[in-house]
Amino acid sequence: MILVAPSILSADFSKLGEEIKAVEHAGADWIHIDVMDGHFVPNITIGPVVVSKIRKISDIFFDVHLMIENPGKYVEQFAKAGADLITIHAEACDNILSTINKVKDLGCKVGVSINPETSLDVIKEIIQNVDLVLIMSVHPGFGGQSFIEDVLPKIKKTRDIISKMDKEIHLEVDGGINDKTAKTAIEYGADVLVAGNFVFTNTSYRDAIKSLKQL
Ligand code: DX5
Ligand code: ZN
Repeated sequence: MILVAPSILSADFSKLGEEIKAVEHAGADWIHIDVMDGHFVPNITIGPVVVSKIRKISDIFFDVHLMIENPGKYVEQFAKAGADLITIHAEACDNILSTINKVKDLGCKVGVSINPETSLDVIKEIIQNVDLVLIMSVHPGFGGQSFIEDVLPKIKKTRDIISKMDKEIHLEVDGGINDKTAKTAIEYGADVLVAGNFVFTNTSYRDAIKSLKQL
């Protein structure tokens, strides 16, 4: 089954609660929350205070994508704020496995992400410890960028590794997803699609989400 996770980075922040409710009613499976610190990426977005506020208005699965330095320092705050899954970037951790274990100990599902230029070798050994692998298909920092096709072989390789494991591990792709790139990403093995711009600029959130699922 293909899951769609609209990224609220492209939502209208002046009515964030309504936007979340709208995509939820339009068929979103998860809500993708992009957390940026101005260090790991050149942009600043949402912190745990906002996550805890929107947690109050929705029970939908919160997929929190931490694009921050030293994520281990902040995972507890995001877990307490109501994250269901916390994804950390391999490039931002001194010790990836200990950060993964910290998230698990907090009772959240855990994901690991790599940037377009980062080799899969960096996370190969720890994939069995996570619930989700997130392959970035743009350079993280901003919504509305174009899908980098060079990451497709990495998506396929990740799917090959995951399919040999005896647990369910999601393969999420994030950045530049629209109805066309979604089709390609799914063909290469993705099962969770993050989409910001494509969903929130569409006049019908329902049609956008449906087209991403290739229905
Ligand atoms: C990029 C973020 C993405 C972004 C996706 O740094 O991690 O989640 O919001 O946005 P679109 O779908 O517009 O490329
Ligand atoms: Zn993201």
